Amino acid sequence: MEVTILGIESSCDDTSAAVLRGTTMLSNVIASQAVHVKYGGVIPELASRAHQQNIVPVIDTALKDAGITADQIDAIAFTRGPGLLGSLLVGVSFAKGLSLAKNIPMVEVNHLQGHILSHFIDLPDQQIPHPAFPFLCLLVSGGHTQIVKVNSPLDFEIVGTTIDDAAGEAFDKCAKVMGLPYPGGPVIDRLAHEGDPEKFRFAKPSVDGFDYSFSGLKTSFLYFLRDHVAENPNFIEENKADLCASLQKTIIDILLKKLIKASKALDIKEIAIAGGVSANSGLREAIEDEGRRRHWKTYLPPLKFTTDNAAMIAVAGYYHYLNGEQSELDVAPVARLEELLK
Ligand code: KG4
Ligand code: ZN
Repeated sequence: MEVTILGIESSCDDTSAAVLRGTTMLSNVIASQAVHVKYGGVIPELASRAHQQNIVPVIDTALKDAGITADQIDAIAFTRGPGLLGSLLVGVSFAKGLSLAKNIPMVEVNHLQGHILSHFIDLPDQQIPHPAFPFLCLLVSGGHTQIVKVNSPLDFEIVGTTIDDAAGEAFDKCAKVMGLPYPGGPVIDRLAHEGDPEKFRFAKPSVDGFDYSFSGLKTSFLYFLRDHVAENPNFIEENKADLCASLQKTIIDILLKKLIKASKALDIKEIAIAGGVSANSGLREAIEDEGRRRHWKTYLPPLKFTTDNAAMIAVAGYYHYLNGEQSELDVAPVARLEELLK
């Protein structure tokens, strides 16, 4: 009998719980928090409070949807970090409570590893192709941008990383200066369809090796808008779609340049993407186009597994559990990746 894993994810502004049997997803429930939209970004204190309200019903629903009771869980996988400390605390504390009450082992999961391993979630009625090891994963989320060499489900090497902002942050911050709602990534993606990606040119960074930088793009975008709005107050409104299309193309070009370089240098043609920004339709198309040109085998996660979800935490937890890893009751959440990797 395959093991049954409950996954809990609460690192940012989505409260999520999922049940997996082996790697097969039986349920995946996500409560998104609308409370942040009017502030144009996630307010940590409000996120923690919303997690506190959502966690019990979300876990309850995930168990019901999977048709199991808490007594049938073999292990509880939870996000230990990186993320917002107060948000993580809600999930970690719930995992501890349930572990104590039902005597179920806990397994901590690195949120970013979860994003990457989302490629290994199986659906009961649908075959999703899994990348072969070793593969390169372009991990693009709201907080991180990395190229990761994945040697096995538990063996990762960070090949390149952002030295400042993440790709998702570039989307969100540029959207904000255009007056678009939070999160800006999906809005820019939608508006970009109606715009000309060649209309405007923005600065592309030159960074050594396989690392990324997005803060220069953000700044040049801001100054570009400021100068044009000074001449024409309606500039943003009149050029919104072209601005979005051009900005999105610039971000995609930056992402692909280093990915191509890493693929060549490491001679790896199994290429996956993961994380919230991997939902971007332009990026997905560009990866597939590049893949055809370069004979890559490309892996795009199903859209529901791109943004934060507990199924990816559960599948990562599954591999750690099989490897004999368990967390102690004094485990504490950590906000930053560097602390987690210590
Ligand atoms: O992985 P995720 O859900 O949370 C973190 O772990 O950070 O990623 C959220 C990020 C946000 O920056 C959001 O704007 C971005 O993913 N995002 C997108 C799209 N959908 C979500 N960015 C570009 N295009 C999209 N379609
Ligand atoms: Zn995430």
